[in-house]
Amino acid sequence: MPFNTALTRKLGIRIPIVQGGMQWVGYAELASAVSNAGGLGILTALTQPTPEDLRKEIRKCKGMTKFPFGVNITILPAMVPPDYGAYAQVLLDEGIRIVETAGNSPGPVIRQLKAANPPCVIMHKCTTIRHAQSAVKLGVDFLSIDGFECAGHVGETDITNFILLSRARQAMSVPFIASGGFADGQGLAAAIALGAEGINMGTRFMCTVEAPIHNNIKKDIVNAQETDTELVLRRWKNTSRLFKNNVTAAVTKIERESTTGKFEEVAPYVSGKRGREVFLNGDKDYGVWTAGQVIGLIHDIPTCHDLITRIEKDAIDTLNKASTLIVDKQPEPDIAGKPMGDMSADPQSEHGKNVPGEAQIYDIGKAKL
Ligand SMILES: Cc1cc2nc3c(=O)[nH]c(=O)nc-3n(C[C@H](O)[C@H](O)[C@H](O)COP(=O)(O)O)c2cc1C
Repeated sequence: MPFNTALTRKLGIRIPIVQGGMQWVGYAELASAVSNAGGLGILTALTQPTPEDLRKEIRKCKGMTKFPFGVNITILPAMVPPDYGAYAQVLLDEGIRIVETAGNSPGPVIRQLKAANPPCVIMHKCTTIRHAQSAVKLGVDFLSIDGFECAGHVGETDITNFILLSRARQAMSVPFIASGGFADGQGLAAAIALGAEGINMGTRFMCTVEAPIHNNIKKDIVNAQETDTELVLRRWKNTSRLFKNNVTAAVTKIERESTTGKFEEVAPYVSGKRGREVFLNGDKDYGVWTAGQVIGLIHDIPTCHDLITRIEKDAIDTLNKASTLIVDKQPEPDIAGKPMGDMSADPQSEHGKNVPGEAQIYDIGKAKL
């Protein structure tokens, strides 16, 4: 049964599930499998060494799915920044009109993508409401609200999705999707209840048959618990959530103990190249690699089709079940006899009439009550 949310309508997808951009994982094999299953698959632009390689990957993906898919452009600080404009131009030339943007100062790229005819639909990742407000000024179509649970760059404010999503609902005029910590239909139903138009998942999609990474790493995720991630690089205000391993232990030790605080001391440990090797050689301790707390909820390695179908069914069941909790008449209590209550709260009781209530003791103004 298709969903009808602002996300499914705008993107022309059946189920409001986005596969977020993932460095060294977001290739055509995964993106097309997600799109074929009714969600939105996303290629990761910078996983391709050059803009021309991105063009080839987009063409490959087009050959693997007739459904919409998008491209992620992540703008991070770098000594020699990639030519973001050239990557963006290639995706425009190839007819891509759905783009996930992330990172710092996305203004120039977003303006370029919005100037296209027709303009791109842009989903921008934000870990704070302040960043979300800046993104809205740039004209993005959706915010992808990334809670502290998420894999990768969690930001510096440590606000989890229970607060962040509701803050987005309260404060933002632009529709948003929920990102970070989602793996199942109950999560999708919860995100919808909090006001989101869908969910974005990264780590869960790493652990699917089509994810082009070594099977050992998928098994390591299945065997891991929610406590098996580690935050690194906070000292340099570039906090990242990674899979906890020997290398993250070495990084956090240096981070704690270094007297110089020079980034050069940890740089060799957090090298992206070694992280990429992990996905190829299957040795979880070879380098650092990204994963979210949601690893604790992942217990199998399904195909994208089976995963998305299961999430769809469980979300529908959860939303239907929730609606049955509203009844015409309060049912009898399950416990035998008269339930014990707070006598002072009983309007028929004389007890406690002159005893100050908790609010009076703490001097809370009446207006607050
Ligand atoms: C292996 C991996 C690599 C990632 N690389 C990127 C990236 O290059 N750009 C980006 O915007 N997000 C990246 N992410 C974040 C995901 O797109 C998504 O926002 C995040 O995984 C959501 O949290 P979750 O893992 O709890 O689902 C990555 C995530 C993972 C697991």
